[in-house]
Amino acid sequence: MHRFCSILCAAVTAVSAVPAIAADSTFEAVKVTAGETLFQAECRRCHSPDADHDSYGPPLENIVGRAAGSYQDYDYSTALEASGIVWTPAALRAWMEDNDGFMPGTKMRHVGIEDRTVQDFILAYLTSITTQDNSAISE
Ligand code: HEC
Repeated sequence: MHRFCSILCAAVTAVSAVPAIAADSTFEAVKVTAGETLFQAECRRCHSPDADHDSYGPPLENIVGRAAGSYQDYDYSTALEASGIVWTPAALRAWMEDNDGFMPGTKMRHVGIEDRTVQDFILAYLTSITTQDNSAISE
């Protein structure tokens, strides 16, 4: 009977694990899609999401984990270039919330996104356009 139980229990565990995984990836996909819509509304007029296209602000491809002020050929403010920070999720949240308070002297106009859910969605999108492994930079 032990054998029967172990097969049945394994089957039950496997079945109950499947919806959780499916839900997680669905949530992630929904966050990325919502984040893309918000990015289009709040950021896109100044930022290209891919490095092949110039924009008024620096392109944001591979931004998560990137050193601030490091996109080549972009004419950054001295404040941003000399900041020495890395764009971790926490730094990106602080930037979205109050960029000129977080970094006085930046030339990016104040955006002021205080809603944490909106920040989460935009972060999910920025993570989705980060395909390069930037972990060496954030060490
Ligand atoms: C009105 C134009 C404008 C809007 C809107 C805007 N930005 Fe910017 N952004 C800039 C400019 C200009 C810079 C360069 C700032 C500097 O050099 O001080 C910048 C810089 C940045 C940087 C630093 C990039 C780097 O290479 O270090 C990040 C990250 C960023 N913006 C994210 C965002 C996000 C996310 C949004 C939307 C929520 C947004 N920006 C909206 C103009 C804008």
